[in-house]
Amino acid sequence: MSKSRFPGFYRLSVEERVNLVAQEVNLTKEEKDLLFGVTPFSVDRGDFMIENVVGMMPLPLGIAVNFKINGKEILVPMVIEEPSVVAAASNMARAAYESGGFTTSYSGSMMRAQVQVVDVADPYAAMARIYEHRSSILELCNSKDPTLVSFGGGARDIEVFVLHTQKQPMVILHLLVDTRDAMGANTVNTMAEAVAPFIEQITAGRVLLRIISNLADRRLVRARTVVTPEAIGGHEVVENILLAQQFAEFDPYRAATHNKGIMNGISAVVLATGNDTRAVEAGAHAYACRSGRYMSLTRWEKDGEGNLVGTLEIPMAVGIVGGATKSHPFAQLALKIMGVHTAEDLAGIIASVGLAQNLGALRALASEGIQQGHMALHARNLAIMAGAEITQVDEIVKQAIAEKNITYDHILELVKRTSTRVL
Ligand code: MEV
Repeated sequence: MSKSRFPGFYRLSVEERVNLVAQEVNLTKEEKDLLFGVTPFSVDRGDFMIENVVGMMPLPLGIAVNFKINGKEILVPMVIEEPSVVAAASNMARAAYESGGFTTSYSGSMMRAQVQVVDVADPYAAMARIYEHRSSILELCNSKDPTLVSFGGGARDIEVFVLHTQKQPMVILHLLVDTRDAMGANTVNTMAEAVAPFIEQITAGRVLLRIISNLADRRLVRARTVVTPEAIGGHEVVENILLAQQFAEFDPYRAATHNKGIMNGISAVVLATGNDTRAVEAGAHAYACRSGRYMSLTRWEKDGEGNLVGTLEIPMAVGIVGGATKSHPFAQLALKIMGVHTAEDLAGIIASVGLAQNLGALRALASEGIQQGHMALHARNLAIMAGAEITQVDEIVKQAIAEKNITYDHILELVKRTSTRVL
């Protein structure tokens, strides 16, 4: 079993980090070359993925360390442009490590496609007729994806309701499809299109939209963690985090930012695995609003022993087969690094990272504030922007921090001064 605790990982060189990860999860030479950029993912491959391709835009891939999830140590690849995120996830995973790390559960991989039927003369009778044909509808859906059925998935059930809109009552049919290890958008969209003519026959109406719903509330993942006050900075920090949590539960302005912090972690892992970040984000925010009021996706409480207990429940429509998850070499590499074999495992890791990320943000906000840690990393970017050589960056950042002046103008000045000295 691989390990995830690497004290001082951030202090190593890129090469040393790659070698450590390679050793831990048995990366091949080709896989290491991919990470080092020796065999870049070419523009020709990109041209197969989207339209009108003119180039590639690389983003950094970092590894979050210290994660223990369901008893297993996991190295987590994260792709993101924002500094501090990978560091915060790793720090909070370390804080949770001694008290057991993260525990997850999964509701199953049921996705939903919607079929909108308009111009129906008798919507309630049409709804009843659709239900009468439930078996034939499911059979028709399953005939479209024998492979999924052979893996134990397939269309399982239907839901039908009448939607009273401003223009007319509409009949809405939901196809509930267990997509197993696939994200499932293509599968459920194909099924929805395939049943449309039959539904028109049954309802004597007109089928308009046939598309997945990204509110994947039958594909929920939950993550839970317990953190001792000592691991998080003391009892006062715990109390402050609880107050910060209340703020996010009762105020949508704060909840949006609270959830944005969660999505920093979630989207970074979703992207690293070639999954659809927008689908997961749409599902998350719609779910955050399920009570009619937008609120925090996480909850933080204090257990009987005074420990901080965090939970996150979120729709997680991600897969490990199909689309970019299979065709993008980095996505395959990310899955290998995590040792993931099912969509359920992947969902659990993603939710754990989201929970850790939220804790990282709340811990900083409820104590020294976010800028102290963030600005040091931000200063690195500013130094690069200001034209510093890689070898100058550390010194410039150190000086800017010592002078408590992390503005672009000041860093530019420091770069100029350092360069003149070097010359
Ligand atoms: C910044 O990317 C994310 C935070 O704003 C999240 C939060 O406020 O909880 C720090």
